[in-house]
Amino acid sequence: MSETARSRAAALPHLRRGRLTMGDPIPLPLTMAAIYHAPGDATGFDQYGRFSNPTWDAVEDMLAHLEGAPCVAFPSGMAAISAVFFGLLKSGDRILLPSDGYHTTRALAEGFLKPFGVAHDVRPTSTFLDGGFDGYRLAFVETPANPGLDICDIAAVAEAAHKAGAILVVDNTTMTPFGQRPLDLGADIVIAADTKAPNGHSDVLFGHVASRNADIIAAVSGWRETSGAIPGPFEAWLVHRGLETLDVRFDRMCSSAEVIARRLESHRAISGLRFPGLVGDPSHNLARAQMERFGFLVSFVLASEDKAEDFINNCLLMQAATSFGGVHTSAERRAKRGDVVPPGFVRLSVGCEPVEELWQAIEASLNGISG
Ligand SMILES: Cc1ncc(COP(=O)(O)O)c(C=O)c1O
Repeated sequence: MSETARSRAAALPHLRRGRLTMGDPIPLPLTMAAIYHAPGDATGFDQYGRFSNPTWDAVEDMLAHLEGAPCVAFPSGMAAISAVFFGLLKSGDRILLPSDGYHTTRALAEGFLKPFGVAHDVRPTSTFLDGGFDGYRLAFVETPANPGLDICDIAAVAEAAHKAGAILVVDNTTMTPFGQRPLDLGADIVIAADTKAPNGHSDVLFGHVASRNADIIAAVSGWRETSGAIPGPFEAWLVHRGLETLDVRFDRMCSSAEVIARRLESHRAISGLRFPGLVGDPSHNLARAQMERFGFLVSFVLASEDKAEDFINNCLLMQAATSFGGVHTSAERRAKRGDVVPPGFVRLSVGCEPVEELWQAIEASLNGISG
C-alpha cells in the first residue's frame, strides 16, 4: 500500500474526532428519524428524513475521505448507478457500457433508459478504447470487470472520452478506494456497490457516487431527494462500522488471493485462470500501473457445470453465494446468473480466513473433483 493510502487508512477511524464535544459517544450514534425539530426557517439544518440524516453524513464523510471527493450515499450499488443515469442523462443521449461487466447495469439501460430515449452500445473492457467515444454523452467502465476480470486503462479512456465530449463513470466495486482511485486517474464519477467489501459482512446493500464536479454531485443528490432512493439510517450505520475495518480486511483478502491464485495456476483441474496479480495474466502490467492491490476476486473454469457446483458445495471454507467481498470466502458458478461464460466458470471471492487453512480446503475440494 502506498504512503498516501496508508495515511488515509490511519485517519479514517478518527474523522469525527474534531467534532466531538464533552460526553459525546466515540462510536457513531444511529439516528433513526423521519422528522427533525424545525421551527421557523430551518435552512441549513436537517428537516426531513428524505433530505438528510446525520448517520448518512458520517458514512459519506468516510467515503469522501477515501475517494478524495464529495460522496452521495444510496441504498444499493444499482441505486447509485441509477442516480448517475437518471440524474445526468436526457432523451437523445447515447452511452457506452462494458459488454462483460455486471449484467444488471446493461439490463437497466435496456429496460429503463431505452424507453426514455437514451440509447446504449456495449464494448469489451479489454478493448474499451477501440472505436473511440465520438457521439457518446457518457462512457461507463468496470475495471476489473465482474466476473471476467479484464481491465482497461482508466487514464487513457478518460482522456479519449473527454476529447470526444463524453464523461467517464467508473464502477469501482471490485477494487474499493483502497485498491484503485479512478478520480485520480481522470474519471469524472466513481460509483460503487458498498454492499461488497466496504460493508464486508454481507448483511446490507449500499452504494455511493463520488465526483469532484459540484454540478454532478448536485444532480445525483437532487435525484436521491426527489426520487426517494435514500439509504436507511441503520444500513448507513452498519456500513460506517464496516468501513472502519475495510483496510484490514481488504489487505488480508488481497494478500490471500495472491497466494491462492499462484497455487491454483498449477492445479490440474483449473483452466482459464484470471487474476490481475499473476505475472502471466493479460491484465498484469496495466494492473501494476493503475491499481494499489490486485483485488480479492479470482476466476477460473472447471471441466463442467457439475464439477464447478461440486467444487463450491464441497469446500468446507466456502459459501455458495452470489455477491463478493464478504469476510467469508464465497464462490459462484456465474453461468447460472446469465453471464456469457463457460458452464464451469467460477468466480471466487477470497475472504478473511487464515490463508493456509483456506488453501487446504480449496485444494481438498479441487482434488475431490479431479478424480
Ligand atoms: C460490479 C458491480 N456493480 C454494481 C453492483 C450492484 O450492487 P448492488 O447489488 O448493491 O445493487 C454489483 C452487484 O453485484 C456489482 O458486482
